[in-house]
Amino acid sequence: MAIRQIVKLGDDILRTRAKEVTEFDENLGILIDDMFDTMFRADGVGLAAPQIGILRRICVISVDGGETKFELVNPVILKASGVQHGTEGCLSCPGRSGVVERPKKLTVQAKDRFGVERVYKVTGYNAVAFSHEMDHLDGILFIDKIKNEGN
Ligand code: NI
Repeated sequence: MAIRQIVKLGDDILRTRAKEVTEFDENLGILIDDMFDTMFRADGVGLAAPQIGILRRICVISVDGGETKFELVNPVILKASGVQHGTEGCLSCPGRSGVVERPKKLTVQAKDRFGVERVYKVTGYNAVAFSHEMDHLDGILFIDKIKNEGN
């Protein structure tokens, strides 16, 4: 387990579409564990692999301090419904915050570290975090979607 360095706004890697994961090996598990460690150390609720300089479609999420942990590999949105607005920030955009529109409910299909296909139905803050982190995999940042800039 290791803490990885978080890439900050201005780095092109944050604006590049990440590639599908094809190898479900031991290294993937190590990477995912490192992503959780890095996220918790930084007091974040989500982290996507491009944020630590790795252009692969992986994100980790935990909005309750580690009680419920999601690891999403090659995630795809199957269904999105409703709308919610909330203030967001991002570990790659220190000092920035603002209100963003997100779906209220999301159904997401993703693989886990072992390559097992799973389906997650999430609502509320989890839906915000899933949407925010999956955007990172396509080079999209929350600041692109801000309606009212905070700070
Ligand atoms: Ni972010």
